[in-house]
Amino acid sequence: MKKYSVAAIPGDGIGNEVVPEGQKVMEAAARLGGFSFDWTHYDWSCERFAKTGAMMPEDGLDQIRNKDAIYLGAVGFPGVPDHVSLWGLLIPIRRGFHQYVNLRPVKLLKGIESPLKGREAGSIDFYVVRENNEGEYSSIGGRLYDGSPDELVMQQSIFTRRGCDRVMRYAFELAKTRKKHVTSATKSNGISHTMPYWDERFAAISTEYPGFKTDQFHIDILTAHFVRNPDWFDVVVASNLFGDILSDLGPAVVGSIGIAAGANINPEKDYPSMFEPVHGSAPDIAGKGLADPIGQIWSGAMMLRHLGEEAAARAVEDAIADVLARGEALTPDLGGKANTRELADAITAALPAHFKADKFAAVS
Ligand code: NAD
Ligand code: IPM
Ligand code: MN
Repeated sequence: MKKYSVAAIPGDGIGNEVVPEGQKVMEAAARLGGFSFDWTHYDWSCERFAKTGAMMPEDGLDQIRNKDAIYLGAVGFPGVPDHVSLWGLLIPIRRGFHQYVNLRPVKLLKGIESPLKGREAGSIDFYVVRENNEGEYSSIGGRLYDGSPDELVMQQSIFTRRGCDRVMRYAFELAKTRKKHVTSATKSNGISHTMPYWDERFAAISTEYPGFKTDQFHIDILTAHFVRNPDWFDVVVASNLFGDILSDLGPAVVGSIGIAAGANINPEKDYPSMFEPVHGSAPDIAGKGLADPIGQIWSGAMMLRHLGEEAAARAVEDAIADVLARGEALTPDLGGKANTRELADAITAALPAHFKADKFAAVS
């Protein structure tokens, strides 16, 4: 029997509530799929920072380097400045393991009410492909003339040819399996070096994919189109910061940030990829059992797919869709009264009916 060795890092806040529920669903999916998980739990978090002064041990990356995958909840909690917690745990994993694609699906599912009027299930269905290793997120910069009227801060953006090309190619390869339509998020009217370069690389990579529809929008009007015309999109490729913004906006237009899934992918598989929901630690609802576990569970489905367990991945996704369509055991963000565990249990219960081993035998 295949056994996958996975690092579970619940992190902070509701991460501690949704990760264990996600693990239970993964266990149930594994039983159906005839494989198993070997989980190792890591307490890396703001709580650990408070005790030891570090989010993770110095050799943290080495401890998880040989895992098949990483299943993460959320990082960051009041008491530790966000840039300290995130640069102490989440961002080093994304960069250290070359997880240069952040893949975040946006899909309007039956049973979920979009805040947009008149949108039917299935009418919004696209992916945000976010550059995840460079761009506007950098540690290069500094502060000068501290405390004086001339005080200033600088932050350097980095866009490399390798970094742009590889995430753009990933977007085109994904679009190849869908509607062959790639949209690029830019801002080359106002940002005069990096964004014109981004456009230049998008044009260059586009020529490798004849027959594909391509377009680009400045990020300001693109956010408006996400709200007014979300049905226009198939695959949207964006820099680190723009992709971050678009991947919260997308889930908002399809109902709830609580159901938004994500995968930090190392496509070459030379290091483990990491699967985590789009949302954060939600300090406002942490510890109350109110957290929607779907983002975490759906991220788990993405992990199953990455591991090659397509039938199990589909079963989890279909079970989520089924439970939502039936309006069963929904958490308050979805208009229901159920708690985190009840919603996760409903998804687990729906799993067997959706497991179709034969259909995906060739893939898995
Ligand atoms: P957040 O996503 O944690 O919360 C935003 C709002 O959405 C809150 O009202 C919250 O209650 C709600 N929400 C989020 N997830 C939910 C869920 N599963 N079910 C129901 N409601 C949910 O964003 P924030 O408040 O900006 O950030 C809080 C902390 O999390 C900060 O420290 C931030 O840096 C961190 N953060 C971490 C990640 C990550 O680890 N990937 C992502 C985003 C934010
Ligand atoms: C996300 C988060 C992180 C990001 C933060 C917490 C650093 O918002 O995963 O989307 O911006 O990448
Ligand atoms: Mn974000």
